Amino acid sequence: MALTLKEMGFKNLYCLRGGYREWVKAQWPVEAVGGNVKQECITCHNDVTPGIVADWKVSKHAQHEVTCAVCHGDRHASSEDASKVLPINPDRCGMCHQIKADQFKKGKHSLAWGTLKAMPTAHWQTLAKMEGVRGCESCHRLGYKTEAEIVALKQSGAGFGYVSCDVCHTRHTFSKKEAQQPQACQTCHMGFDHPQYEMWSASKHGVRYLLKQNGILPESATAPTCQTCHMQEGNHAVRTAWGFLAVRLPLPLDPKWAEARKMILQALGVLDPNGKPTARLDLVGKADIVRLTQEDWLNERIKMVTTCNACHSANFVLSELDKGDQMIKRTDIVLAEGIRVVAGLYKDGILKKPASYAHPFPDFLSFHDAPTTIDLKLWRMFMEYRMRAFQGVFHASPVYAQWYGWGEMQQSLTELKEMAAELRRRAHPEKKALPRKPK
Ligand code: HEC
Ligand code: HEC
Ligand code: HEC
Ligand code: HEC
Ligand code: HEC
Ligand code: HEC
Ligand code: HEC
Ligand code: HEC
Repeated sequence: MALTLKEMGFKNLYCLRGGYREWVKAQWPVEAVGGNVKQECITCHNDVTPGIVADWKVSKHAQHEVTCAVCHGDRHASSEDASKVLPINPDRCGMCHQIKADQFKKGKHSLAWGTLKAMPTAHWQTLAKMEGVRGCESCHRLGYKTEAEIVALKQSGAGFGYVSCDVCHTRHTFSKKEAQQPQACQTCHMGFDHPQYEMWSASKHGVRYLLKQNGILPESATAPTCQTCHMQEGNHAVRTAWGFLAVRLPLPLDPKWAEARKMILQALGVLDPNGKPTARLDLVGKADIVRLTQEDWLNERIKMVTTCNACHSANFVLSELDKGDQMIKRTDIVLAEGIRVVAGLYKDGILKKPASYAHPFPDFLSFHDAPTTIDLKLWRMFMEYRMRAFQGVFHASPVYAQWYGWGEMQQSLTELKEMAAELRRRAHPEKKALPRKPK
């Protein structure tokens, strides 16, 4: 039995330097390959995958003799037995980088895989889409998985990229400097419902940072990156106050907003049309999709205020963040009105309930099953325009907040109402002939 790091007296190998060679030997005794395992991997892979060897050579790992076999094991030594390499997950990195791995496991990124699997929408996806490179999981793969899950995924032909840590510290350079650049977040945090990179890069914050990157502004110029605000002090447990969907409990004090939030919770299927909690509440709570307490929200908010306060005055910061909260409120009220219109069509039998919907009520988490344009319009209000509006405020992007967000939101409600009226006219042509009631 190999010694654990704790047994060797090290909190994490990252700081141990001197003793780690012995530990490595204890973990992975060189027997299967024979001879000088370090050199054999490198010599052969210099021909087989020269790019990988070149990247590894410039890494800190190479300097510290964290060789190929330390991560991959030494059971494979030729082209015939490549399947014998060990599965790698954050725990393996954590043997030497315990603090980072523990933080990672506490943050939202570690949930990205579980959430995806738990979503009712995921069931709709064909296997090809789910497991393929361009499917949901090309971004959501960064969620934590056990080694056993990774083995199973590989056996199912799902491929590589499940190690999580290497989404920001790309293999095999595993560079800190690379992960500190906002571009490390760009591959996933862009587009449709979460265009944070586009917002940030065209904001004052982003423009200044990009000018620093190309050397026009000096290194000392202040400009926050995604990491400044979301990985404070290098903390790998990324998480925000509102979260992605910006729906949280308890309900707000403002009665109009509270009513709108309730309507949205119903469309998420977390409350049933009578306002009673459903099994989904448990699911979204477990997946940390909805913040369930005021303290939870407040703790994250205080962290953020402190971060902004390093460059801006407290007054400035509080008023800016409040604008974000107010935008959530405004869009919630417009969205709720949209939900009410579409729910009315279901109630009156004008739209037929799709099979996957639990109730004759819009269901945002099963929207794929919604066959009608009006359902899709409503879903886009929720998933695209509302997201863009409040995310745009939080990321100092007036273009997203106003034009791509709030503006589209209002326009969509008008269109939605017209579509609903038209559907009602078509369902009851006889009513068309009736004279309009005088006001
Ligand atoms: C710090 C740990 C670490 C070290 C050291 C390391 N690797 Fe890797 N390697 C990884 C990770 C993580 C992956 C991704 C595995 C996955 O997605 O399942 C990987 C994947 C690979 C792959 C398959 C994927 C691809 O891109 O082709 C090859 C081949 C490979 N490594 C070779 C090497 C060689 C050769 C060395 C030594 C020069 C080496 N590795 C050193 C962590 C490491
Ligand atoms: C005699 C040549 C040779 C030696 C020695 C060798 N490898 Fe490989 N390795 C290969 C070949 C060939 C492949 C398959 C590459 C391909 O499909 O393009 C491979 C594949 C891999 C992969 C990817 C496995 C996968 O799932 O696709 C990893 C990781 C890897 N080697 C690591 C190592 C490590 C670590 C060592 C040393 C313990 C090592 N190799 C020694 C030839 C070698
Ligand atoms: C056997 C121990 C060991 C393992 C396993 C290991 N590392 Fe490292 N890692 C190190 C050492 C040693 C350093 C250099 C530390 C230093 O220079 O202060 C390092 C440095 C790093 C750095 C900082 C690089 C920089 O540019 O400063 C990152 C990022 C990193 N490792 C990520 C990983 C990831 C991801 C994995 C798993 C795929 C991993 N490590 C596995 C020992 C290890
Ligand atoms: C490989 C894709 C990927 C990369 C790269 C990535 N993220 Fe994420 N991120 C995700 C996914 C997926 C989620 C949602 C996880 C979940 O909860 O299911 C997420 C969630 C988040 C959240 C939490 C939002 C909430 O709900 O509270 C923050 C903050 C975040 N990421 C910031 C970053 C930053 C900063 C970087 C770069 C340093 C980054 N991400 C890099 C995919 C990625
Ligand atoms: C381009 C990368 C990418 C793709 C592809 C992607 N997602 Fe995401 N997903 C993210 C990011 C990033 C977040 C977090 C966004 C945020 O917090 O603003 C996220 C968040 C989520 C969340 C909310 C998690 C939470 O805790 O709030 C769910 C559910 C989700 N995605 C499901 C899916 C499904 C289903 C698919 C496939 C149809 C998919 N995603 C495809 C990047 C992606
Ligand atoms: C969302 C992107 C992201 C992911 C995923 C990520 N890291 Fe990091 N990592 C960073 C950033 C950014 C830094 C630089 C933090 C700082 O400025 O101190 C960093 C720094 C590090 C360092 C260097 C610490 C130091 O102070 O020198 C190590 C080691 C490390 N990460 C390991 C890991 C491991 C292990 C994992 C997986 C469990 C991981 N990282 C996942 C973004 C990421
Ligand atoms: C100046 C600070 C700052 C910078 C820079 C920043 N963000 Fe944010 N981010 C915020 C604030 C504030 C929120 C909303 C927090 C809350 O819920 O109260 C947020 C929220 C998020 C969320 C959760 C959903 C949402 O958008 O509301 C994700 C994901 C996210 N940011 C990713 C990123 C990424 C990726 C980058 C870089 C491209 C980035 N952020 C740059 C401050 C920042
Ligand atoms: C690392 C320093 C830094 C941090 C942290 C930071 N900012 Fe900024 N911010 C700047 C600089 C520099 C500017 C451009 C000069 C200016 O407008 O004050 C700016 C501009 C802005 C602007 C645009 C103001 C305008 O007049 O166009 C807003 C809004 C903003 N920041 C909000 C925030 C919020 C909210 C946070 C925290 C979530 C934050 N900032 C965090 C440095 C920072």
